[in-house]
Amino acid sequence: MNVASSGRLQGKHAVLTGAGGGIGLAVAQAYMAQGAVCTVADISSKAPLALADAIAAGHVHYVQADITHMAQIDGLLDAAEKRFGNIHVLFNNAAVFDMAPLLESTEASYDKVFSVNVKGMFFVMQKSLARMLANGMKNASVINMASQAGRRGEALVSHYCASKAAVISYTQSAALAMAPHKIRVNAISPGVVDTPMWAGVDALFAKYENLPIGEKKRQVGLAVPLGYMGSPSDIAGAAVFLASDEASYITAQTLNVDGGSVMG
Ligand SMILES: NC(=O)c1ccc[n+]([C@@H]2O[C@H](COP(=O)([O-])OP(=O)(O)OC[C@H]3O[C@@H](n4cnc5c(N)ncnc54)[C@H](O)[C@@H]3O)[C@@H](O)[C@H]2O)c1
Repeated sequence: MNVASSGRLQGKHAVLTGAGGGIGLAVAQAYMAQGAVCTVADISSKAPLALADAIAAGHVHYVQADITHMAQIDGLLDAAEKRFGNIHVLFNNAAVFDMAPLLESTEASYDKVFSVNVKGMFFVMQKSLARMLANGMKNASVINMASQAGRRGEALVSHYCASKAAVISYTQSAALAMAPHKIRVNAISPGVVDTPMWAGVDALFAKYENLPIGEKKRQVGLAVPLGYMGSPSDIAGAAVFLASDEASYITAQTLNVDGGSVMG
C-alpha cells in the first residue's frame, strides 16, 4: 500500500531490528519517507543495498547486531543514540521461524526460536524503554512484531506460535508498565507476507505436508479473505500510524494486518 502524505514522523528517530530485508526494510523505507531518521540493525555485517542512497544521504545508520546477545543490544542502542540522538520509536521486528511436528520439536529448535523471538525481543524492548524513560521521552512508541501465529496454536508450528503469543503478552505488560510515563507499546500481527522468511517456511511445509515447493505459499495466499499474500509494504501503513502522534491514545493493542484472516 502507499502511505499517504509525508512528514508524519518528522523529527523522530526510529530504531528497527531485523531490518536488513523483508518487513523491517520496507518499514524503514516508509519511516524515512515520512521524515524520520532510522537506525537499522540486522545480524548481517553488510547493510542492505536498498539503503545505500539513504545511508549516503545521512538518513539511515546501519548497525550489525545479534539481538540474542545483551552486549550487542547495548552496543546497538549506544550507536543509535550516538548517531541520531534520543530514540522515539522502536520497531522490534527481528525473528526466526522453525517448525516440526509437536512430538519431534527439539530443544535446539526451542532455543533458536525463543532466543531471538522472545528473549531478544524482550530485552531490546526493555533496554529501549529504559533509555526512553531516562531521556524523559513523552509519546515515544514501541511496536513489536507479533503474528497471527501468536493468536492460535498450530500442530506443526508450536515453538514459533508460542513465541509470538509471548510477544503479544509482553506488549500488554510493557504497555501497562509504561502507561504512566505516556510511552506507548503496541504490536502488529501480520498474516502471511511475502518476504525472505517465507522461502524457508514454504520449504518446511513442503517437507512436513508432502507438498511441492511453492504450493503452501500459493494455498495460504488464496486462503486470505482479501485473496492474496501481503507484501512487506502492506505492513508499512500500520507501522507508520502506530509510530506517529496520530496514535497517541492507542497502547497495549495488537493490530491485525492480515487481509482479514483473524477477527477480534
Ligand atoms: N513473513 C510473514 O508471513 C510474517 C507473518 C507474521 C509475522 N511475521 C513477523 O514479521 C517480522 C519480520 O519478518 P519477515 O517476514 O520480514 O522475515 P525476514 O526473515 O525477511 O526478516 C527477519 C530479519 O531478522 C533478522 N534476524 C534474525 N535473527 C536475528 C538476530 N538474532 N539478531 C538480529 N537480527 C536477526 C534476519 O537476518 C532478517 O533480516 C518477524 O517478527 C516475523 O516473525 C512475518
